[in-house]
Amino acid sequence: MANVKLFSGEQFPLELHKVRIVQKLNLMPVERRLEAIGAAGNNTFLLKNCDVFLDMLTDSGVNAMSDKQLAAMMEADDSYAGSDTFTRLEAKLNELFGKAFFLPAHQGRACENIIARSFVQPGMIVPMNYHFTTTAAHIVLNGGIVAELITDEGLKVNSSQPFKGNMDIDQLTALIREQGAEKIAFVRIETGTNLIGGQPHSLENLRQVRQVCDQFGLMLVMDASLLADNLYFIKLREASCRHKSIREITREIADLVDVIYFSGRKLGCARGGGICTSHKAAYDKMREFVTLYEGFLTYGGMSVREMEAMTVGLEETMDENMINQGPQFIAFMAEELQKRGVPVVTPPGGLGCHINASQFVDHLPQSQYPAGALAAAIYLVSGVRGMERGTLSEARDPQGNEVFANMELVRLALPRRVFTLSQVKYAVDRIAWLYDNRAMIGGLRFVEEPKIMRFFFGKLETVSDWQVALAAKFRQEIGDSL
Ligand code: F0G
Repeated sequence: MANVKLFSGEQFPLELHKVRIVQKLNLMPVERRLEAIGAAGNNTFLLKNCDVFLDMLTDSGVNAMSDKQLAAMMEADDSYAGSDTFTRLEAKLNELFGKAFFLPAHQGRACENIIARSFVQPGMIVPMNYHFTTTAAHIVLNGGIVAELITDEGLKVNSSQPFKGNMDIDQLTALIREQGAEKIAFVRIETGTNLIGGQPHSLENLRQVRQVCDQFGLMLVMDASLLADNLYFIKLREASCRHKSIREITREIADLVDVIYFSGRKLGCARGGGICTSHKAAYDKMREFVTLYEGFLTYGGMSVREMEAMTVGLEETMDENMINQGPQFIAFMAEELQKRGVPVVTPPGGLGCHINASQFVDHLPQSQYPAGALAAAIYLVSGVRGMERGTLSEARDPQGNEVFANMELVRLALPRRVFTLSQVKYAVDRIAWLYDNRAMIGGLRFVEEPKIMRFFFGKLETVSDWQVALAAKFRQEIGDSL
């Protein structure tokens, strides 16, 4: 991927891996897609995979595994207690992060449950650069309050700021002074902010956050689920890190925080999660919840095979040619879409290519879920499944009012090493067609709205028959093609 210069002068990301296991895909005709999205209540989470061509819903648990990961899975030591597999994973995490203790959990949100139960008391505040859906839910369930302190630049869809995930240090200091340090449960930094387009924070910003935490005696917790992308961006965009290895940057980051937790469905390309810390008191507090909610301390709800795969995957994350694949494909996709006028989040971040629905369907009010409507429309015209990351992904306030999201995005996730460049080009082509026909896209309204995490299970209907008309136009213009 790294430095391959092409004779033609053309620029595109070149894969430095080969595909050895494949899965057949289905591309259904637009008429079937119309039925499928209706049956799914216009919620892409509820589509069935047999109706999906390119699954760009998420990178969670669906990254491609390496031959070495698969081989390691065969050697897993299956035992309830004292498994050698666990010891290997623990040793790898200790080597990379330098933390004395590791608590396993079945996935990222399980870590959030444990951390929130251990440290959040009713009325306490958790300042953070930006929330993630499950993180905020666990803090709120424990009576806590989320305070988002992202820099102003972070909320601009288009910016030239390389680190839009940075925390605003002045706001952090002001909040702690105003509220008193005793009201702060801990400070949380999301490394690779998910909901605002996979935007990284800098190492320098993390150092400043650490200083504030030291000044007020606060614990700093890092959500390292998207660490791989953030590491790549720090090396690429932070001048002082250009000559450091990924391993060195990882250790510098880890040394600045008290607790690191991660979704192993993203970091390490396997399935699971865990919490690392060197603080014995914090470890002891959290340990009780692991045995209560996850499993014994040497598996924490994970299968031993996944733990073996994660151990190898974490080591592979230290390879720049491995972690740059996602961000480089995302940058390619974003640039190709921009060439065709499609509004996307810039600079491109990690995780996926993020389309700016507020601009794409600027005729739709936020109350009609523009990003949800666009995600449904993209599926309809392409079979590509993306995810709404806007108002639908927010929860209503305690009075039942809608909370309009800061950004209305459709995320087209590019799980690591899964898609080929021609598949990305296909997606770009269909989205460009949709952009030309964007005036036809209408809004959505709920018919079934769950109270918690409504975006997972909620069902919506179209406010008019716009999807029928859009499918007919597609058929008319694209002809017999799938
Ligand atoms: N933190 C971040 C930053 C995440 O992106 C996720 C998951 C979690 C925590 C929770 O981890 O899924 O293992 O329980 N993000 C997935 C996504 C769901 O699609 O972006 P989990």
